[in-house]
Amino acid sequence: MHSSVSINDNQRIMENVPLRAIVQQYGSPCYAYSKKAISENFLDYQQAMGSRDHLICYAVKSNSNIAVLQTLAKLGAGFDIVSVGELERVLMAGGDPAKVVYSGVAKTAEEMRRALEVGIHCFNVESESELRLLNQTAAETNQLAPVSLRVNPDVDAKTHPYISTGLKENKFGIDISRAQEVYQQAAQMENISVVGVDCHIGSQLTDITPFIEAMQHLLVLVDRLAELGIKLKHIDIGGGLGVRYQNEVVPSLASYMQALEPLLKDRSETLVMEPGRSITANAGILLTQVQVIKKNGDKNFAIVDAAMNDMLRPALYDAWMDINAVEVITDSEEADYDVVGPVCETGDFLAKDRTLSITEGDYLYLSSAGAYGFTMSSNYNSRPRVAEVMIDGNQTHLIRARESIEDLIRGEQLIKEQ
Ligand code: LLP
Repeated sequence: MHSSVSINDNQRIMENVPLRAIVQQYGSPCYAYSKKAISENFLDYQQAMGSRDHLICYAVKSNSNIAVLQTLAKLGAGFDIVSVGELERVLMAGGDPAKVVYSGVAKTAEEMRRALEVGIHCFNVESESELRLLNQTAAETNQLAPVSLRVNPDVDAKTHPYISTGLKENKFGIDISRAQEVYQQAAQMENISVVGVDCHIGSQLTDITPFIEAMQHLLVLVDRLAELGIKLKHIDIGGGLGVRYQNEVVPSLASYMQALEPLLKDRSETLVMEPGRSITANAGILLTQVQVIKKNGDKNFAIVDAAMNDMLRPALYDAWMDINAVEVITDSEEADYDVVGPVCETGDFLAKDRTLSITEGDYLYLSSAGAYGFTMSSNYNSRPRVAEVMIDGNQTHLIRARESIEDLIRGEQLIKEQ
């Protein structure tokens, strides 16, 4: 995966722009993304597919800024969405609705109506109730809803339990042992058109074996359905590969495709993938400034102006993310720090036990922050959400303004005195 920061003349830069210049222009904290890295990461997927019929549907939840979606739409990406909000973002960014797959465990009738109206590629349906609701909703407007059933293949993705989704005990998908029956029901429904099958077993996978195992399970089902006269057009294997945050050894896309090849070689179905993290994570950073350095007991704390509300991954998953000073050379002495935010929670940390040479006022950057960073941010502690910047060669574009106090209270109202 292409990452975003390099060193040039003792300066850390993203594409051709020094990180210091970005944070000084747009303020701290802010997210910065490399347009080149996002594009290359996406094109790697396209390329790895070779001559196989495919559709790469970028998982919008990983980074949904409309400028990111626009960049990918221009390259011909499809999109994996999980809400009507994400759908509207894709449309606003110029994405093609015919390349949209709609995932999610409980879509509402209203969301279904909008997706039918714009003509998406398919609904990834996760339960019989959802299937019935979709059939009913499509009937209202006399439409045929394209459906792929998300099956739960009961495969252990061996990732963090919160982001493991393909086990029987998880809430996701239809138990694969029941899938045939549900397909048969779907095939009978007047306003449903069965087009595919999909699964998503988890995120941040650093081993391709679970993907291969899941594909094997899907193919058995696809063949059984064909014998019953239900012919599927596409097979969707779900999210993409994991990324390197620390020292994970991440398999290449080429090796993933190579491992799939023997399974898919004589098949005509379109292969669909829904990568998110591997397209945006290493293309983005979170810039932050050291506000206070203090010592409590034996521990050194660097309190920075970014917090768990800006980047939740360390607090929620105990995720390890790399953090470094923006200046390559500093006069400060090395020490071990916990890098924490100003939010009133002990869980508010970005990194623990890191050796850094820093002093108050210095800028730091958290690496691999382009995926599940801004999209998981919140206004907790009434902190305005930060700015997002897209770097393109020598140019910088503000793609989301920092929130103001007015933004913070938008929609709130005082109770009128009687
Ligand atoms: N498709 C579906 C149906 C998904 O649920 C997901 C991610 C993806 C695709 C994209 O997977 P990826 O290529 O990014 O691995 N917030 C967590 C990750 C949650 C992933 C949820 N689903 C984190 O920060 O690690």
